[in-house]
Amino acid sequence: MNRVPLLVGARGCVSLEKYVIRGGKKLNGEVVISGAKNAVVAILPAAILCDEPCVIENIPNISDVTIILQILSEMGAKVRMINKTTVEIDPTTLRNVPVPYEKAKRMRASSYFLGTLLGRFHEAHVSMPGGCDLGDRPIDQHLKCFTALGATYYIDGGMVNLSADHLIGNQIYFDKNSVGATINGIIAATKAEGLTIIENAAKEPHVVDLANFLNSMGADILGAGTDVIKIRGVKYLHGTNYSVIPDQIEAGTFMTLAAATRSNILIKNVIPKHLEPITQKLTKIGVTVEQFDDAVRVIGSDNYTSTSVKTQPHPGFPTDMQPQMAAVLTCAKGTSMVTESIFDNRFRYVDELRRMGANISVEGRVAVIEGVDGLKGAPVKATDLRAGAALIVAALSAEGTTEIYDIYHVERGYENMELKLRSLGADIKKVDEPDPAEAEKALRKAL
Ligand code: EPZ
Repeated sequence: MNRVPLLVGARGCVSLEKYVIRGGKKLNGEVVISGAKNAVVAILPAAILCDEPCVIENIPNISDVTIILQILSEMGAKVRMINKTTVEIDPTTLRNVPVPYEKAKRMRASSYFLGTLLGRFHEAHVSMPGGCDLGDRPIDQHLKCFTALGATYYIDGGMVNLSADHLIGNQIYFDKNSVGATINGIIAATKAEGLTIIENAAKEPHVVDLANFLNSMGADILGAGTDVIKIRGVKYLHGTNYSVIPDQIEAGTFMTLAAATRSNILIKNVIPKHLEPITQKLTKIGVTVEQFDDAVRVIGSDNYTSTSVKTQPHPGFPTDMQPQMAAVLTCAKGTSMVTESIFDNRFRYVDELRRMGANISVEGRVAVIEGVDGLKGAPVKATDLRAGAALIVAALSAEGTTEIYDIYHVERGYENMELKLRSLGADIKKVDEPDPAEAEKALRKAL
């Protein structure tokens, strides 16, 4: 298996970090869900719009957050961690410098710097965003938003360059339902003159959380969470103390791993309403889900029946839960169908599940899963964030040992995954294998 040397870790060295998981064990106990990745990666850049320092609580300790805080401080904002999950950002000292490729390429959320710098300075220079390789991920709807508000743009050397004399509210209809474009539209319109109406808006919980964050600073945003969002521009945004919502996808991921390991787990700090589509699908195959005010208890069973899953924009079944659900369905009796209607290439994890004995065939955007009695541990690699999560779900249920490489993908979006799993009784270790090329270089140097 060709494994590319990994990301330069926080320690600045190159390493092949991997998870080593001995599966087949029932888990038990309780786990507390962290703040929502896809909300916080929008809220932190949006803080640039604020005219005073603001405090954001319940932020997860994940690499995407680390990168965004690095970008903000390199741009001159004062960034102070008040505790492990709370940051104070004073954007008043921020300078409008370009957001470079080497930072922006590692995440999709770097596109939010376009909306926030345009919104505050009427100018933005940000590298084209990176993020998970899920197929074609253009930003045409983002650019449609910005030009509707009066901006012009050109792309040069991989940088998106925006400028506007004024930002004037307008009516914007999205040709495609886009979380990122909706978020960028809200951010860019927050201080535009007059009324902006966004139609065919995304309704994900993190869109609502961003709108609530901006409104807590004095913005005037109505309708977030529906198809039509109205933003009346304001001149000034005062400071705020805002707490990020719990992560719907992290909670859903723990629900699927409880199901896959036939465990009984209490998942705390969740908003059960956000988990509805996942709860429904798991219940349908034979999992028991008990709902409380801010927790769900998931009780797995020995036999699951097959089902069909089709990803849809919220409140449909989340595309970010598609790989994890497929991992559960690999051992559900009968034939399951998983249809990915949001992205055109979100089945790259299937090859890795096949290495563990899964029986899956993929035709375009449909995966057909024939249930098998059980999976077997194998060396596999994470191809993106949620694919890595799916491999963890599979490895925990499989007989034997699984090594999951390229776990930097997982650490972009899951806080302390191995610690949380170990607290539930999972046999998981994070092993830091030196990169062979680096080791050879060091050896040559030493000789
Ligand atoms: C956000 O990505 C999330 N990322 C993704 O989560 C999530 O899968 C996705 O929304 C859908 O829910 C963040 O929030 C940082 P989109 P985003 O714009 O905004 C097409 C994870 O695992 N499109 O809603 O990039 C696009 O190609 C990540 O946490 C255009 O055609 O998703 C896709 O097919 C993965 N033009 C569809 O729309 C555009 O201008 C939905 O994309 C924008 C999008």
